[in-house]
Amino acid sequence: MKVLGLLVAAFLVTCPCHASDYRVFPLQMKTAYHDQYPTEVSCASWRLAVEANNLIKWKTVPAPCQEYMADYLLGDQYRSDSKTVCREAYFFAKTLNVTHRDIFVFDVDDTTLSNLQYFANHGFGVEEHNATAFKIWVSYGEAFALPETLKLYNKLLSLGIKIVFLTERPLELKDVTISNLKDVGFHTWEKIKDPSIYSGKLSNAFKSSERKKLAEEGYRIVGNIGDQWSDLVGEQRGLRTFKLPNPLYYD
Ligand SMILES: *[C@@H]1O[C@H](CO)[C@@H](O)[C@H](O)[C@H]1NC(C)=O
Ligand SMILES: *[C@@H]1O[C@H](CO)[C@@H](O)[C@H](O)[C@H]1NC(C)=O
Repeated sequence: MKVLGLLVAAFLVTCPCHASDYRVFPLQMKTAYHDQYPTEVSCASWRLAVEANNLIKWKTVPAPCQEYMADYLLGDQYRSDSKTVCREAYFFAKTLNVTHRDIFVFDVDDTTLSNLQYFANHGFGVEEHNATAFKIWVSYGEAFALPETLKLYNKLLSLGIKIVFLTERPLELKDVTISNLKDVGFHTWEKIKDPSIYSGKLSNAFKSSERKKLAEEGYRIVGNIGDQWSDLVGEQRGLRTFKLPNPLYYD
């Protein structure tokens, strides 16, 4: 046994078993430094920086990234990114001992209902945001459900967790929002929280104060999901927050 052990040890020391097919050339990083990266590479970096909240207060998607954004949003990647987030939210929820006071907070726009059709008709975020045109789109009540969010919603309900929708959509859009939600499969909720009068407060201040009220009413916010960082920061943000992808606009 001892001899065999020694032989194996000797073999491990002499054989280049740890060598890999990957070669790292530090100098390569220098040579690429001044070069222009291909558009899809720099646009992917831009998108990552947005999702990580490193790029903030930006107004529009960089014009050269329009095609990249169309490919991202209409292809598999957006769906797969959303699925990863929603699955993690479900796995987390499964670990909880749920009580009747447990709620999961959902944002509406581009978390629950998708405005992708609007943005597809308006340059995938490259055009400056037009609040009037956007409101007209919302008033049609034709937004589809984000499929991974709908799956998560149904799974959370099956765990006995209640849903609260927290949106900044103004009161005059409440009826159309409710019928849109029901049309696409979101049939039940504990509450829909929206601004009774548009306060002009920054989104995170409004959402924070609404979550505080929920906590004061005795609810436990077990989770909080949104596509904007402003949905997920501030007070009473929940036991865990889940950031869905959205490279189209910054709130
Ligand atoms: C859930 O309840 C069980 C049984 O009371 C307990 O063992 C477990 O630690 C609880 N889990 C959590 C996450 O509180
Ligand atoms: C915004 O949209 C409205 C409604 O479609 C339109 O009348 C208006 O001209 C647009 N504004 C700009 C700056 O494009």
